[in-house]
Amino acid sequence: MRLIVCADPREATRAVVDRVVGAIRDRPDVVLGLAAGGTMEWVYDGIVAAHEGGLSLARVTSFNLDEYVGLPPEHAQSYHSYMRARLFDRTDIAPGRTYLPRGDGDPGAAAEYEALIAQHGPIDLQLLGIGQNGHIGFNEPGSDFASRTREVALAEATRTANARYFGSGETPPETAVTMGIGTILEARSIVLLALGDGKADAVAAMVEGPVTEACPASALQTHPDATVVVDRDAARLLSRTAI
Ligand code: GLP
Repeated sequence: MRLIVCADPREATRAVVDRVVGAIRDRPDVVLGLAAGGTMEWVYDGIVAAHEGGLSLARVTSFNLDEYVGLPPEHAQSYHSYMRARLFDRTDIAPGRTYLPRGDGDPGAAAEYEALIAQHGPIDLQLLGIGQNGHIGFNEPGSDFASRTREVALAEATRTANARYFGSGETPPETAVTMGIGTILEARSIVLLALGDGKADAVAAMVEGPVTEACPASALQTHPDATVVVDRDAARLLSRTAI
């Protein structure tokens, strides 16, 4: 696992954007794994800026990590809507090549998503954020490292953390469909971005703690090409801070 500690959120985001833009320049038909969440909003702004500067995403294929179960794709807080607003509608990426898990509760949706990844993958570069409890995608603590795409119950901590994106009187769904940890680990390379003091505990457990299902992100220690990019606040509890 490679660790990059940046001076501030802006520099850390820039490092991740550069990785993604570089991957698209090197291979215009790259297969990207994409993540939602507040942290990724700036990353998508950076990719959009590169597109406005001439970068084409027309041949890129993308697979998102996860989607809430029970929110139709048009719902403002669905990850389908998030991706359209943050990236898809702002670039020339081909709508037919952007994949997200279906959150309609169909029991066949997870296997269908795995089949699509097998057909179009492997994923060349997987972007990840991290939950305050160490989750990746929506793989909550206790998730099997061999897990595949499936419907999962969200931890109360995750529902509380993500409630800020929902309107008053609305609460996040209780379940989601997420790529499994086994699915994520099959990506050729992985870049995880964590910003701010609120992620410091999770970052320390991921980078310096034991490889344990109690911290899903610690599975990245077993991946041959995983890079963790953090700002100083998120690195606060690390003893090694190689820059
Ligand atoms: C959600 C997503 C994760 C993301 C996490 C952190 O739970 N399913 O993929 O990493 O949020 O989000 P934020 O960047 O908003 O802290």
